[in-house]
Amino acid sequence: MTTAYVNGHFLPMESAMVHIEDRGFQFADGVYEVVACFNGHFLDMGPHLERLEQSCAAINIPLPCTLERLAELVQETWRRNPFQDAMVYIQVTRGAAPRAHLAPDNLVPTLVITSADLPKPSESKLAKGAKAITLADFRWKHCEIKSIALLASVMGKQEANRRQADEAFWLDGEGHVLEGCSTNIFAVINGTLVTHPLDHQVLGGITRKMLIRVAHDAGIEVQERPWKLDEPGLTETMLTSTTNAALPVCFMDDKPVGNGVPGPMTRKLRGLMIDAMDALRAS
Ligand SMILES: Cc1ncc(COP(=O)(O)O)c(C=O)c1O
Repeated sequence: MTTAYVNGHFLPMESAMVHIEDRGFQFADGVYEVVACFNGHFLDMGPHLERLEQSCAAINIPLPCTLERLAELVQETWRRNPFQDAMVYIQVTRGAAPRAHLAPDNLVPTLVITSADLPKPSESKLAKGAKAITLADFRWKHCEIKSIALLASVMGKQEANRRQADEAFWLDGEGHVLEGCSTNIFAVINGTLVTHPLDHQVLGGITRKMLIRVAHDAGIEVQERPWKLDEPGLTETMLTSTTNAALPVCFMDDKPVGNGVPGPMTRKLRGLMIDAMDALRAS
């Protein structure tokens, strides 16, 4: 059984609890992070903790401790659950209080940290690519905050699953592709890597940032601009997230993207990302 960190204590998962009046449970009044860890080495821990700090600041929750202390707690949670490739989950909520929309002042935030095996895309998913659907965006207007209020994402994933797809990508009113329920998305258009710019409709994915970095280093042009699936010259799409690195998306709404198989740019960029993860694992 795994061990979870809850508000100052490491506890067996079975007895790791928060109060029923926790505002995370009552109002989804909280934020979260997911960090990957390879053989005890965290990938981009700094950027993940900085994003957590930004998410907390955006909804006016004080950080439960300094970022240095948080990094120690994250490492200690992994040490107690030392999965070879791990996914460490951090959740901060405003805390517990009698249920009222307006929270009392000076609440003590709730902090939960867990470590689990890092889920990976299957070999067949890598070979054939993922299938996805598109949906008109019905989320709120602060998608840049990594909020635990994920009902729209849950509904999107359910709809994707119902249609035998892996992910649903949100479209704005003009048909631009924004991001997925739990992923960012890139297109290859005339050999350039294109992704929606960071704004209130998109989470600033840490893997998105890594892919842009890796592409720049490989001399590949990157454009952050709105784009559509029917743009001339579009040959590939790929999603990014902490649990997927970069993964080809080969079908959209049952139509092939490009040739309907993982394309050369996606294979190259995924390979470079996996190399970086292997190097971290061996460091
Ligand atoms: C809406 C959304 N976009 C993008 C991502 C990818 O973010 P990251 O690369 O930091 O895992 C996530 C991850 O949970 C997400 O929920």
